[in-house]
Amino acid sequence: MAENWTPDSWRSKPIVQVPAYPDKEALADVESRLATYPPLVFAGEARKLKSHLADVAEGRGFLLQGGDCAESFAEHHADHIRDFFRAFLQMAVALTYGSQQPVVKVGRIAGQFAKPRSSDIEKKGDVELPSYRGDIVNGIEFNADSRIPDPHRQLMAYRQSAATLNLLRAFAQGGFANLDHVHQWMLDFVKDSPQSHRYQLMADRITDSLSFMRACGIDPESAPQLRSTDFFTSHEALLLGYEQALTRIDSTTGEWYATSGHMLWIGDRTRQADHAHLEFFRGVQNPIGLKCGPSQTPDGLLELIDILNPNNEAGRLTLITRFGHENVEKHLPKMIQAIEREGRKVVWSCDPMHGNTITANGYKTRPFERIMGEVESFFAVHRAEGTHAGGVHVEMTGRNVTECMGGAKEISAENLGDRYHTHCDPRLNADQALELAFTIAENLRKETDGKK
Ligand code: PEP
Ligand code: CO
Repeated sequence: MAENWTPDSWRSKPIVQVPAYPDKEALADVESRLATYPPLVFAGEARKLKSHLADVAEGRGFLLQGGDCAESFAEHHADHIRDFFRAFLQMAVALTYGSQQPVVKVGRIAGQFAKPRSSDIEKKGDVELPSYRGDIVNGIEFNADSRIPDPHRQLMAYRQSAATLNLLRAFAQGGFANLDHVHQWMLDFVKDSPQSHRYQLMADRITDSLSFMRACGIDPESAPQLRSTDFFTSHEALLLGYEQALTRIDSTTGEWYATSGHMLWIGDRTRQADHAHLEFFRGVQNPIGLKCGPSQTPDGLLELIDILNPNNEAGRLTLITRFGHENVEKHLPKMIQAIEREGRKVVWSCDPMHGNTITANGYKTRPFERIMGEVESFFAVHRAEGTHAGGVHVEMTGRNVTECMGGAKEISAENLGDRYHTHCDPRLNADQALELAFTIAENLRKETDGKK
């Protein structure tokens, strides 16, 4: 157990990115109510994820983490959850084939509500209002009332997370994730893609592998692994009052676990060594992520790892790098060398989204070729350093949105307004997400072939 730590010890530390709740009594009331609610996940599941991630850290597996930038109350719909999961599972199949290794599936979902912002204030014309901080804090509508932080939103976020998680568990275990279905969806994608020639070969090989296995008597009817899957949830644990209320002692081990999701991560804006977020994270035993942007130095990173993973436990820490497509070579090799020199066990994951955001035609967007570029550089650097490119972290949806530019269907700046629905950052649509997965699969193939 972490020394001198309690679920509320973060409260005595400096903190950034916190909402200014006008009604402190209502906030305290909501937090104490949440503290009596059932946990959303249970500690044994978080431990299982940690052991899968330990394998990834040792070079045996690949982490796929993805979902909305921000979940919203308005878009809470079974169809959206289903479409996300369908796209996500197809990505996972491509990656499993590419890596020839297990893919650990972690959604940015069922709790991804709180958002850090680059400015406390949003200005439109002459009007200045507090920024939107995610549906768990305030409303996205640009009016003074909606931007007041309302603690009751935490109860809605909790209930929405529970309902989303319930459906995802049903999908993962109840037949929806059957490999034959997922493969058929993938074939439909390949057939309809303007770039289908690029994906056809891999799709054919997967078809052949499945036929071979079926001939050997291994199919979804006979093998439970082919008709269900493990799926885990994750979010940025930004709103610490909410997280504290859902932090519980695990009766099996006597250790503290955050039960708002299986894996939590620390954002790039809240990773100061002496601040509240580091304090909270060091005491919960879940697998955790740490975003590393261009301002993270190798020494600073080692200092954070001393706090977050003092026992050097494999699977505890995933480093999610997000430098921007032109900056990977500048930052990543030094970081990898420091970690290797000190013998720290981490999963290396690439977030190709947050360093590649631009504005075009009045919309926040991300050019698909830059996203691809960051992923390609991430793999190239790991190949050069001889380390395992262990995962990818993406903002995506299963819907046919027009938020990121480019991709095989060539979404242009002029198209962005057609279906731009995100509550925060631009997401890959289902086709773009799958295109990205095929590219990653090709890179993983190179890593595997390099070892033969
Ligand atoms: C995010 O993942 O939505 C995010 C805000 O990322 P970062 O902390 O890396 O900027
Ligand atoms: Co984002």
